[in-house]
Amino acid sequence: MSDRFDAAEAAGGFTEYYGRAPGGVWSAPGRVNLIGEHTDYNDGFVFPFAIDRRTVVALGDRDDQVLRVSSTFAPDPVSVHLDDLAPDAVSGWAAYPLGVAWALRESGADLAHVRGVDLHLASDVPIGAGLSSSAAIECAVAVALNEHWGLGLDRPALAKAGQLAENRVVGAPTGIMDQSASLLGEADAGVFLDCRSLDADVIPLGFRDAGLVVLVIDTHVSHAHATGGYAARRASCEAGARALGVDSLRDVRVADLARAEAELDDETFRRVRHVVTENQRVLDAVRSLREHGPASIGPFLDASHVSMRDDFEISVPELDTAVEAAQGAGAVGARMTGGGFGGAAIALVADALVPDVTESVRAAFAARGFREPTVFAVAAAQGARRDG
Ligand code: GLA
Repeated sequence: MSDRFDAAEAAGGFTEYYGRAPGGVWSAPGRVNLIGEHTDYNDGFVFPFAIDRRTVVALGDRDDQVLRVSSTFAPDPVSVHLDDLAPDAVSGWAAYPLGVAWALRESGADLAHVRGVDLHLASDVPIGAGLSSSAAIECAVAVALNEHWGLGLDRPALAKAGQLAENRVVGAPTGIMDQSASLLGEADAGVFLDCRSLDADVIPLGFRDAGLVVLVIDTHVSHAHATGGYAARRASCEAGARALGVDSLRDVRVADLARAEAELDDETFRRVRHVVTENQRVLDAVRSLREHGPASIGPFLDASHVSMRDDFEISVPELDTAVEAAQGAGAVGARMTGGGFGGAAIALVADALVPDVTESVRAAFAARGFREPTVFAVAAAQGARRDG
């Protein structure tokens, strides 16, 4: 549990709102992606981990069929009748929790006989930093409703429901990575996920034993998946796959890139090259971690950033500055993480260098007149769970 609040506090918030104690408390974490960016919707590989920042949801039964949700991040609760659940029935922040209820039904769960619930959400996952605050809400609500209503869905099915809520209710065309990390993560481990088969390997990271820390550098540059370049990148990838005659870019190898370059326009080719080389970097980083330990993955992180900056073109000057300053101060490796166009970078740093790296990043931002970034350490934490 994060040190900002605990299950008792979330339960207290529920009681304050609804005037009775909740029946249960669940939570789910945000995530950091170590490597494998914009590969998930291309049926490729990703290697994220769940972080020690969580969204907590307290739940209480109702005797009608209304779903009501309140939170610490919005003044007013939002209600919807179970019969009225539909992609356009809710908007704003409530689309995440209530969209999940719709998505569970859409995935085949029988909600005809369940009773409504009151939900209260609290979170310490920073919003808009690329750390999947949205997936944390979706997954906390998904595990809570799944258990409370006795739906019996497994974690991959819950991940798909969270993604469906995000795609259809929130309207962001995102992949399956964030929800998978939030649901499958474990302490001190990364989730190596094949986004085609959804086979997941939970791999010990060993950062602490190796004296390493993952620093998050939140640039405070806002990113907007639904309206930003994310959808355009996804469309380029699909166009590239079509032009190359494959189902998805997962089916293109590094050795096929020369042919791809001859067949595609320059921009589409560079989008394709990012995805194809990034898939290979995930495989190489995981193998290197297993064979040579965590300090060996640095060069793959660095190369991933260059590919996102130059080929996929989803970085911004603040992210490049964060990465370069961290590398210059001795980070083992650094890259932007998440969808891009803002948000956060990560740096893998030896314990002893954390103050230097932090200071160098701050100084580099100040020298360029950028807004002061927030720099903090994250640890790989347990995925979604019941807390009370
Ligand atoms: C966002 C999306 C994910 C993934 C990343 C990029 O976080 O939600 O599905 O596509 O961007 O790797």
